[in-house]
Amino acid sequence: MPMFTRPTILMCPPDFYGIEYEINPWMNRSVPSDLAKSREQWQALHDLLVSLGVDVRLMPAAEGLPDLVFTANAGLVWRETVFLASFRHAARQGETPLDATWFESQGFRIESLPAGMNFEGAGDALFCGDTLYAGYLVRSDASAMQWLGDRMGCRVIPLQLTDDRFYHLDTCFCPLAHDTAIWHPLAFDDYARRAVSQIPNLIAVSEAEAARFACNAVVVGRDVVLNAGCPQLEADLRANGFTPHATELGEFLKAGGSAKCLTLRLDGEDAAVWL
Ligand code: ARG
Repeated sequence: MPMFTRPTILMCPPDFYGIEYEINPWMNRSVPSDLAKSREQWQALHDLLVSLGVDVRLMPAAEGLPDLVFTANAGLVWRETVFLASFRHAARQGETPLDATWFESQGFRIESLPAGMNFEGAGDALFCGDTLYAGYLVRSDASAMQWLGDRMGCRVIPLQLTDDRFYHLDTCFCPLAHDTAIWHPLAFDDYARRAVSQIPNLIAVSEAEAARFACNAVVVGRDVVLNAGCPQLEADLRANGFTPHATELGEFLKAGGSAKCLTLRLDGEDAAVWL
């Protein structure tokens, strides 16, 4: 069983990253990413997390799997278990055997969802306090989220995503503490908006900053790492007692990802929000 003494995050270097297919509105094969720039931006994110005291673990990149770099989608880590993803699109399904091998080598218990349910890992499943907020419709299925809630014995609040640009929950919602979260209200249907509104402190992100992936932030205690170009959210974070750390991740926006997508909490997705 893996043991963690400090915040621990999985990343995968962008050695084979690129825009090779189009499975979300951000991806356009005629707007390719630049490998050297991607490497620089990824390394800067990595080094920033290390400087904040994070133990960053790496899994090897693999040719032909350009989105493997987005480790948030590998699965959901809960205690010593990883619930592996079951990707909606064939283009990403080849990642799962590699994820399984890596988690096995690290001593995790591996669970897969019942056949026929799609689930895209921490990209769609985020704890706020001991409640699991679960995005569904675009990539993950509501049934998968209910199954997970039963397995973990926790309350699940399914949130329907209505805007294809915000196709994973972590593109429009980010818990900061048990009673505080960042969100982009327009990405949700009415019912989901009402459900999220139960969280006492909500920081709403504008359309413009949501499109800069402001909500796709990595939370390490009071430190919040996010893409550059979100000055309003940075100010709002400071006003709420958090310290923003902006770092340019434009190359990854081309695939529809940013800081949070490039990371996966290994000490438990719930550990991201201890406060
Ligand atoms: N191109 C990837 C996809 O469409 C990006 C994944 C971003 N990950 C995330 N957790 N939002 O699947």
